[in-house]
Amino acid sequence: MSCRVVVGAQWGDEGKGKIIDILAADADIIVRYQGGNNAGHTVVIGEDEFILHLIPSGILHKGKTCIIGNGVVLDPAALLEEIEMLRKKGIKVDGNLLISEAAHIIFPYHKVMDKRRGAKIGTTGRGIGPCYVDKMARCGIRAIDLVNKDSLKKKLQANLEGSAEFDIEKIYEQYLGYGKKIQKYLANVPIVLGKAISKKKRILFEGAQGTLLDIDHGTYPYVTSSNATAGGALTGTGVGPTMIDKVIGVVKAYTTRVGEGPFPTQFKDDLMEKIRRKGKEFGATTGRPRRCGWFDAVIVRHSVIVNGLSEIAVTKLDVLDEMEKIKISTSYKYKGKTYRDFPADIDVLANCEPVYEEHDGWMQDTTAVKKYKDLPKNAKAYLKRLSELLDVKIGIVSVGSKRKQTFKLKSYI
Ligand code: IMP
Repeated sequence: MSCRVVVGAQWGDEGKGKIIDILAADADIIVRYQGGNNAGHTVVIGEDEFILHLIPSGILHKGKTCIIGNGVVLDPAALLEEIEMLRKKGIKVDGNLLISEAAHIIFPYHKVMDKRRGAKIGTTGRGIGPCYVDKMARCGIRAIDLVNKDSLKKKLQANLEGSAEFDIEKIYEQYLGYGKKIQKYLANVPIVLGKAISKKKRILFEGAQGTLLDIDHGTYPYVTSSNATAGGALTGTGVGPTMIDKVIGVVKAYTTRVGEGPFPTQFKDDLMEKIRRKGKEFGATTGRPRRCGWFDAVIVRHSVIVNGLSEIAVTKLDVLDEMEKIKISTSYKYKGKTYRDFPADIDVLANCEPVYEEHDGWMQDTTAVKKYKDLPKNAKAYLKRLSELLDVKIGIVSVGSKRKQTFKLKSYI
């Protein structure tokens, strides 16, 4: 049995797309379990850069089955655009992609609502939150409804009754059209996965966003509206907890965040520009500049716990190559109290002072390193310290955006 979950252990953008792309080589099925086209997973193959928002990055490997689970909220226009982009680049989608019949669908009214109400959170404006609101309010419209004319009409009428802003008939026709196009991908995903597990197929569950953006375990209310943590892989696909063998957390060697919300270790000086430039820290979905800061062991320790991480993959180590000194936050101080564990009170997070330890940098280019043993001494010391502080093993290290700039460790740190 091999069911592995890959989750972001910070505020998203940890480089999950790349790690999933590497792990997908050893998987038969890759399943996305939550979020929507708010995500942007970047994979670089040769000179080609692919940014995937909905379809699991496993699609870039020949012959893999890629599944969009029920926990995902699906914008059909964005999906069809992505399928077209992949086709143009010569990637086979038909026959390799399945979509859960139970995935909820994003409608134009969700996007309008998101743009109106999401500013305080700094949402991506893709209608993600409002679509999940409808799901929980039990008035959502699911993928299966797009191929049932009567059901779609009734549900749209119920949702938009009395609204002068939206043309029900126009939306109905438009979404029936989408239904025709996506019908061939629709599947009963729990059954597909159950059968695959009994045939000993290797399944990789792909999380989007990151643990600190999780609706339950993140920096609420500055979060996304789904469970980005490993638990989401179960509810978002229909696989039971006893089936999961391993949970891999993806961790950037420093920290970034897009949108609003507290970020204790955010740089206050010109380091922000330096790291942003070197790490190309601009949102893959919205193009917004990402906020950057030092590694925060408090938030990642929280991720180790709430995801039950078996190991971590550390990405973008090379971005720190030119730093003379590198800091790690090990705890926070607020009103005379020391916080070693992640505080639930957002005020503590917003107003605390991080307590740092400082390490000597390695001041050497690591982008051509292919084995752990060839990393500079101080880079190894940094990784070792992260592993100690987080109390988790490191299994993968990445030093650049290309496939060959990622290496699995022969023995864990
Ligand atoms: P929403 O997911 O569009 O509702 O946005 C909620 C928050 O999550 C905002 O701060 C977004 O910037 C953030 N967010 C959503 N998706 C991602 C992602 O893939 N990477 C990083 N941040 C994200």
